Amino acid sequence: MAIRNIRELGDDILRKNCREVKEMTPRLIELIQDMYDTMYEAQGVGLAAPQVGILKRIVVIDVGGEPYTMINPRILETGGEQTGSEGCLSVPGKAGMVTRPNYVKAEAWNEKMERYEIEGEGLLARAICHELDHLDGVMYVDKVEGELYETEFAGDEDEE
Ligand code: NI
Repeated sequence: MAIRNIRELGDDILRKNCREVKEMTPRLIELIQDMYDTMYEAQGVGLAAPQVGILKRIVVIDVGGEPYTMINPRILETGGEQTGSEGCLSVPGKAGMVTRPNYVKAEAWNEKMERYEIEGEGLLARAICHELDHLDGVMYVDKVEGELYETEFAGDEDEE
């Protein structure tokens, strides 16, 4: 268990496409644990592997309730719309308004490489969209409406 260094906007690695995970390995288990440690330490609600410099399709999300490890995640269905304030651990001290679906259904694999489906509304739906974007090199600043603004909250996906 360890806190990893979070890459910040401007780092090329955040703009690359991540590779699928073919099999779970002790090294990836350690990475996932480190991702949780790093996310909780930074008081974020989500973190994607490229944010700690690893180009694998892995994200961790915890919007308060249940932690979700999402490996090779894919959005299956979306519905509705929400516009709200969003932040990212890779863009510290900033936030901006982003429109996202209000409902998301996704599939992913867990640490045991078992497939599961997840449904989320509101903040969870926002977090899933935000984190999955990271796996394709997309940052919320690409989708922001208007200017970024200063925030004291440093975490991913600020509350609306
Ligand atoms: Ni982010």
